[in-house]
Amino acid sequence: MTDSLGVAAPTDWWRSAVIYQIYPRSFADSNGDGVGDLPGITHRLDALADLGVDAIWLSPFYRSPQRDAGYDVADFCDVDPLFGTLEDFDALTARAHDLGMRVVVDIVPNHTSSDHAWFQAALAAGPGSPERARYIFREGTGESGELPPNNWESVFGGDAWTRVTEPDGTPGQWYLHLFDSSQPDLEWTNEGVRADFDDTLRFWLDRGVDGFRVDVAHGLVKEDGLPDYTPEQLDASSLDSETSSPHFAQEGVHEIWRRWHDVVAAYGPDRILVAEAWVHPLERMADWVRPDEMHQAFNFGYLMAAWDVAELRRIIDDSLATFGAVGAPSTWVLSNHDVVRHATRLALTEPNPQGHGLATDSAGLPDVEHGILRARAATLLMLALPGGAYLYQGEELGLPEALDIPGDARQDPTWARTNGERLGRDGCRVPIPWEADAPAYGFGPSASTWLPQPADWAPYARDAQRGIAGSSLDMYRSALALRKRHGLGTGTLTWIEAPDGVLMLDNDGVRVVANISGADLPLADLGGEVLLASRPLGDVLPADATVWLSHA
Ligand code: GLC
Ligand code: CA
Repeated sequence: MTDSLGVAAPTDWWRSAVIYQIYPRSFADSNGDGVGDLPGITHRLDALADLGVDAIWLSPFYRSPQRDAGYDVADFCDVDPLFGTLEDFDALTARAHDLGMRVVVDIVPNHTSSDHAWFQAALAAGPGSPERARYIFREGTGESGELPPNNWESVFGGDAWTRVTEPDGTPGQWYLHLFDSSQPDLEWTNEGVRADFDDTLRFWLDRGVDGFRVDVAHGLVKEDGLPDYTPEQLDASSLDSETSSPHFAQEGVHEIWRRWHDVVAAYGPDRILVAEAWVHPLERMADWVRPDEMHQAFNFGYLMAAWDVAELRRIIDDSLATFGAVGAPSTWVLSNHDVVRHATRLALTEPNPQGHGLATDSAGLPDVEHGILRARAATLLMLALPGGAYLYQGEELGLPEALDIPGDARQDPTWARTNGERLGRDGCRVPIPWEADAPAYGFGPSASTWLPQPADWAPYARDAQRGIAGSSLDMYRSALALRKRHGLGTGTLTWIEAPDGVLMLDNDGVRVVANISGADLPLADLGGEVLLASRPLGDVLPADATVWLSHA
């Protein structure tokens, strides 16, 4: 038996893979409607093979009214016409495999779109019906059911409940939506729901996908009785504490992952499940990647860590130990489609809570150049760590967060649900630049883009960086090649005694020095030959720089 890349023996490729997240709306547009699509991706895949990634992960491209950029799925087994067709998907997968890259797709089990046939049937069938039992419908409280069943808030702001009008025209039950009101939560104790998702997994596995990134893998099961809850704001300091909420990280999710594990394992050991689970502390998170559950989980503790020696060292140690204790590799990630791009985030001088976004007048914005230097230093540290790493499209170009998005152009439901109080996530989702001199920077054949691109993005375009020594793209490309050559993803980390404010480690033959101290560090003190640096070096390793040195 050979796997999807024609590899004869089963491999656990994912333990050390670099997986590149494609956000289909914003990667490449083939038909000029301003929204990226599957043929656009296929056409540009060579650039990712050239970059040297092992796999791509595609955010949702399924049928959807696009109220949450496709995370509101109306049909899990079809491609939205906005993005193309199933044949386009097959062509994309075939091309990726030919180029030696695996394909991971998103799956969104916590909720459907309100346009999904199941939800429409639930509305039509009325209270107490089997159709309603697939979702979480409840009677309201108050004198005549005019108040929501409990006090839960949507992650996107506002109530987590919406009241429906019953088929007879009267105000009726309420349904739960932890996200937008167009994303009703499924009832995962329902066997029909479970069986249907098994089929969805098989549908995509049969089409040759190498795995699934499981959206909101901390959700799905809710505490019995749906008790009231007052949330804490998630920030780096709350990541250590054991928090329990009645809608996230319930014990009941694990039997679902064990079931999914079996479905996926039937296709061979090289197909994977990756948890998007915002769970803390890490010891708890590790439950998601026990040997009979998922293969990997995003390391959001690492993503949320500040550019700080003590914090980084602790999260790196904890991650390796905690995931390692259940036999799973750690993963590392700095950016994705939900967070402020790390070229801006890591150098902020004021807190910016998750989901709030940034605009040109936000407090604490860094100087753009400084932000990029720091991000590159952080990336070189990340790519030297053993385990799997996730990249988000555009970070290899050094893209900062797009700040100048007028309110009427903003699309993240968070913006409207909070009346503009939270800007949302559009700033990291802007279509990426390919060609410095083309309309829409080569994103597509027209000048149209679904979110406005900043006027000063020409220098970030891929063609302005390709083959240019010292560019961000060049740094990523070199790092991925060296990472492979030296086996860093499967290596072993040893900390080396270092001056204050400096992280120094050996990963097999490579010494990695990240200067977080704010002061120059003489290179002569470090020894070894420079393999790669996050910025050009003279005699010193400047502040906010990382270097890889050969170290016999
Ligand atoms: C996940 C996705 C996010 C989406 C949400 C609801 O957190 O990453 O983009 O809005 O789930 O599906
Ligand atoms: Ca398009």
